Amino acid sequence: MIMIACVDKNMGIGKDGKLIISLKEDMEFFKKKTFGQVVIMGKKTLLSFREQKPLKGRINIVFTHDKKMILNYKNFNSENDDTKIYFVNNIVELNEILDKYKSLEHFVIGGESIYKMLIDFSDVIYLTEVDKICAADTFFPKINKSVWIKEYSEEKKYGDLNYSFNKYIRV
Ligand SMILES: NC(=O)c1ccc[n+]([C@@H]2O[C@H](COP(=O)([O-])OP(=O)(O)OC[C@H]3O[C@@H](n4cnc5c(N)ncnc54)[C@H](OP(=O)(O)O)[C@@H]3O)[C@@H](O)[C@H]2O)c1
Repeated sequence: MIMIACVDKNMGIGKDGKLIISLKEDMEFFKKKTFGQVVIMGKKTLLSFREQKPLKGRINIVFTHDKKMILNYKNFNSENDDTKIYFVNNIVELNEILDKYKSLEHFVIGGESIYKMLIDFSDVIYLTEVDKICAADTFFPKINKSVWIKEYSEEKKYGDLNYSFNKYIRV
């Protein structure tokens, strides 16, 4: 699995169910990487999307125990061709769906609870690191330097804001 996230200087990722940082180039990077692939997320991340709709052109897998919410999406797959949504509540169920999509890449797209749960199953982390501190209530897990090495880094600037695109791989 591949993790993809955008963090502030404290590894913050979100506040009140929303993103804390929204950079156009990062959004484009996210779309380019994940389009046509599988994206794995938690319920709160799904609910943060526009109209609470799954990401277009991707196989969306959502962790939740919320049976009522799942009902709201019951006709979604039959009404859409290249966008699908599946709900799971444990890693066994996740793997059953991933097995159906073996030829695609499997991206873990957040939030905090899902990054924490799946980091040990991941081999790559794409991390956009923004040189700014924001108020946050959710965080990306600490990247253990004895497990992960930075394979690639590209510095960027938007106005006064510095940020970088980074790729970490498991040692
Ligand atoms: N900066 C970034 O790159 C980035 C990316 C994604 C998200 N975010 C931000 O992260 C925040 C959301 O993170 P979060 O941790 O609060 O929420 P989340 O991970 O998106 O969703 C949490 C929900 O997922 C379900 N869940 C988690 N583990 C589960 C398990 N083992 N089995 C079944 N269901 C499970 C639970 O839903 P039920 O309660 O229904 O069981 C839980 O309430 C938002 O602010 C969002 O904007 C930031």
